[in-house]
Amino acid sequence: MPNKARANLETLYRIFTVPETPDSTLGAVDQAITDNVAGFLQTHIVAIEQSLEQIEAGFSSCAIPEEPTYVSEYTEFVKANLVAQSVHTAAPGFVGHMTSALPYFMLPLARLMTALNQNVVKVETSKAFTPMERQVLAMIHHLVYRFPKEFYSEWIHNSQAALGAVCSGGTIANTTALWVARNRLFAPDGVFRGIAQEGLARGLRHRGIDGIALLVSERGHYSLGKAADLLGIGRDHLIKVKTAENNRINMQALREECRRLQGENIRPLALVGIAGTTETGNVDPLEEMADFAEELGCYFHVDAAWGGPTLFSDSHRRLLNGIDRADSVTIDAHKQLYVPMGAGMVVFKDPTAVSAIEHHAAYILRHGSKDLGSHTLEGSRPGMALLIHAGLSIIGRKGYEILIDLGIQRARTFAELIRQHPNFELTSEPELNILTYRYCPKTVQQKLAEVSPEEKARINAILDQICLLLQKYQREAGKTFVSRTRLQMSRYKEEITVLRSVLANPLTTDEILASVLTEQCEIVRKTEIQALLAQIDPYPIQ
Ligand SMILES: Cc1ncc(COP(=O)(O)O)c(C=O)c1O
Repeated sequence: MPNKARANLETLYRIFTVPETPDSTLGAVDQAITDNVAGFLQTHIVAIEQSLEQIEAGFSSCAIPEEPTYVSEYTEFVKANLVAQSVHTAAPGFVGHMTSALPYFMLPLARLMTALNQNVVKVETSKAFTPMERQVLAMIHHLVYRFPKEFYSEWIHNSQAALGAVCSGGTIANTTALWVARNRLFAPDGVFRGIAQEGLARGLRHRGIDGIALLVSERGHYSLGKAADLLGIGRDHLIKVKTAENNRINMQALREECRRLQGENIRPLALVGIAGTTETGNVDPLEEMADFAEELGCYFHVDAAWGGPTLFSDSHRRLLNGIDRADSVTIDAHKQLYVPMGAGMVVFKDPTAVSAIEHHAAYILRHGSKDLGSHTLEGSRPGMALLIHAGLSIIGRKGYEILIDLGIQRARTFAELIRQHPNFELTSEPELNILTYRYCPKTVQQKLAEVSPEEKARINAILDQICLLLQKYQREAGKTFVSRTRLQMSRYKEEITVLRSVLANPLTTDEILASVLTEQCEIVRKTEIQALLAQIDPYPIQ
């Protein structure tokens, strides 16, 4: 073997074993994260934003490096190009998205999970991780459905069933739920061997219908569009039902949509209730939806990806009344269970429901095995359930209750700050811990209530532009962050642009929230925004 090749082989051998002298650059990063991850993020993520184009320059080559690189060199590259320009999602002033701080123990446990490198698709590569994942599903199932202990003794480790599926996030959880719904609607029946075998076209013919539809409010998450597409339902048949007050589905409109579908020979496959809409955090009337699903004889799924953990709270659980009547429920662990990215779950009321999507292979997932992969959409999966298990065990029901209550209280406080402020308008009342608002001085709010629809539209269009610039400049300054979206409010005919705040980081204080508004008022002083405000004249701006 030539010397160079031998050297490369030796290097490779070293990186798969414990090196005699571990790389000090990576070691220093590792130590810094272990000692004080918050401090590391604070000092290494730079506040001043580079444009995405500038960042792209560091990632523009398509050539796979021919020669091995020193770990230290690579670590320096990562620090400069990746860490420095990542987003400080754990910062207490980062209140715009659903990603926030993590409890400290997640990091070492995530390292342990990586070190073990289990593959929970099958028992042969995961052993204890399989019963642990089943236990996590039972815990979440019990949180939602509260069945008696005997139920769980019967089903928790039953090879014929699964109480749900752990997956990479809410998108896969929702898709899995609707996959089950679809396959149950087109279950084997007489000569028809079921949709899983014969496909959708034959299923529709067998049932004598021209299509199937999903019904969700206009606040439904876009993952349902992906599911409609993948499952052959078609995005045209994802029916976005109008909302009533406070962003909850309008039951009257839902009934009308179902009647219309009936007229077109299209069968509602599932009603999807939302427990914590992505944009505003509001909760659909789940009891009424459950009643209606029962009346229709159709599947009822609840997307509680965000709001599910509200069930931990004795004071706020009632907001989700009716969730236990759902056939399936999505809950994301990487949202309000404070688990790192890549952890979602769906639970099914009926533990045998997943038999509708069961798959087997000759080398694994054999009939009667306890392999989790026989009823998950994903194949190979990491042992993320460890981190969910850790959160549930270490934080516990009472700990999560405190976190939920704190977030809801903080959202109410922030809403009050906005209501009292002369320059802002609250555009959605927080029910959970998400709210929306916009820059709109009270004087302008009063005018908006009086002027013609045309003038209202003109003013709202200008306010939209201000909102957009505000959010952009605030993000670029890197001190605090809120996101933005577009919403239809009953007060205004047209959709308006609003700022969105998600209050799940326990380290966010009321003072930080006040500073978010102060910073926004300072940004508004920019000439560009003042020029826009001048167009709302003659209304005096404070
Ligand atoms: C209500 C709701 N459902 C589903 C999802 C999708 O979850 P994920 O991004 O984990 O796939 C989200 C994500 O924000 C959500 O808010």
